[in-house]
Amino acid sequence: MIDHAKAERLIAGRLSPRRCEHSRRVAAEAAELARRFGASPEAAEIAGLLHDYCRDLTDAETLAAAARYGVAVGPLEARRPKHILHGPIAAAELSAAGLDADIVSAIARHTTGGPGMTVLEKCLYLADFCEPGRQFAGLDEVRALSDTSLDAAVAAAARMSLLDLIGRGRGVVPDALALYNETHAGN
Ligand SMILES: [Fe+2]
Ligand SMILES: [Fe+2]
Repeated sequence: MIDHAKAERLIAGRLSPRRCEHSRRVAAEAAELARRFGASPEAAEIAGLLHDYCRDLTDAETLAAAARYGVAVGPLEARRPKHILHGPIAAAELSAAGLDADIVSAIARHTTGGPGMTVLEKCLYLADFCEPGRQFAGLDEVRALSDTSLDAAVAAAARMSLLDLIGRGRGVVPDALALYNETHAGN
């Protein structure tokens, strides 16, 4: 069992002050979204605090951890290991440390999203996208949608993420594409 105080100790012992601040803003945003849309605010807060627990590992350390925990490494993950795999690696490590399964799965999917996400998973995905420290074109639209509709906001975030990746000529992992397709199924 990992409570709020333990989560704070874990990130303070490993992440830079800047990333700790980001994690606390994500925690506050995720808790607020959870209250609004019917997930556990306490679980969302811990998910936010811990979501980037493995973000400061090097690519080599990330790949070593993936091998240790049996996390799958596809062609895109092999090209950008720490960016794509820091969520799944953190999820595996924290699961072994006793973190609740619903929080583990939210952390695992926070970067790419995926199909069939739970409310808690959506709250963390969106909180990481929208936290007040972020600023980029189109973000205000996602924030406005998140006032009233979790699914509409997640759909917009998934679309913007894909457009950004494609605009940079980067690959899109299957889970991100599946989230986009699922959230735009009516179009
Ligand atoms: Fe992250
Ligand atoms: Fe993050």
